[in-house]
Amino acid sequence: MYLPLLFIFPLLFISSQGSVQDFCVGDLSLPNGPAGYSCKKSSKVTENDFVYHGLAIAGNTTNIIKAAVTPAFDAQFPGVNGLGISIARLDLAVGGVIPFHTHPGASEILVVIQGTIYAGFISSFDNVVYLKTLNKGDVMVFPQGLLHFQVNPSKIPAIAFASFGSSNPGLQITDFAFFKNDLPTELLAETSFLDVAQIKKLKGVLGGTN
Ligand SMILES: *[C@@H]1O[C@H](CO)[C@@H](O)[C@H](O)[C@H]1NC(C)=O
Repeated sequence: MYLPLLFIFPLLFISSQGSVQDFCVGDLSLPNGPAGYSCKKSSKVTENDFVYHGLAIAGNTTNIIKAAVTPAFDAQFPGVNGLGISIARLDLAVGGVIPFHTHPGASEILVVIQGTIYAGFISSFDNVVYLKTLNKGDVMVFPQGLLHFQVNPSKIPAIAFASFGSSNPGLQITDFAFFKNDLPTELLAETSFLDVAQIKKLKGVLGGTN
């Protein structure tokens, strides 16, 4: 009479434990969506899915902005998928600039680990500018979706790490959005109030057309 209960309770206990999702390592072979990637089969997950080595390497700053952003978002580091966090490395050579950009999906918290970074963001409500010089160990937060930048004003290269409150915060660089595509120059001039000559110059530099 009591025997079946003894068998049933352990089974219930096991099945309720099984419903907890500890993690959801992204399966990069499937498309990403608003909820992130689908989960890799847990039997295929190893410790290596929770470790990423890509940020140990300095980004290549031999480019027009003399800076590099190396992301460890879900697409590079599938272990963060579904956890609401990610990280990136910023390298800024002397004179380096991370141009105005936004992360549509998350706030950012930045910590300087070498050199000096001059950073700022602009509020969306009343366009107030918040600027600060950050030295080694200093932290600055950039609220979600707001335009912000980082520059290196010093005589040595700067390194920082930026953490995000999303495994896929997104990155839209404003100049690239304006000048690195086929948006017609006349339409861009009309909608931005910029001069045609300036638009053509930046399209030329960044590889935009039309
Ligand atoms: C860095 O990028 C430049 C320009 O693309 C390239 O010429 C150079 O070989 C790269 N350096 C390294 C170490 O990859």
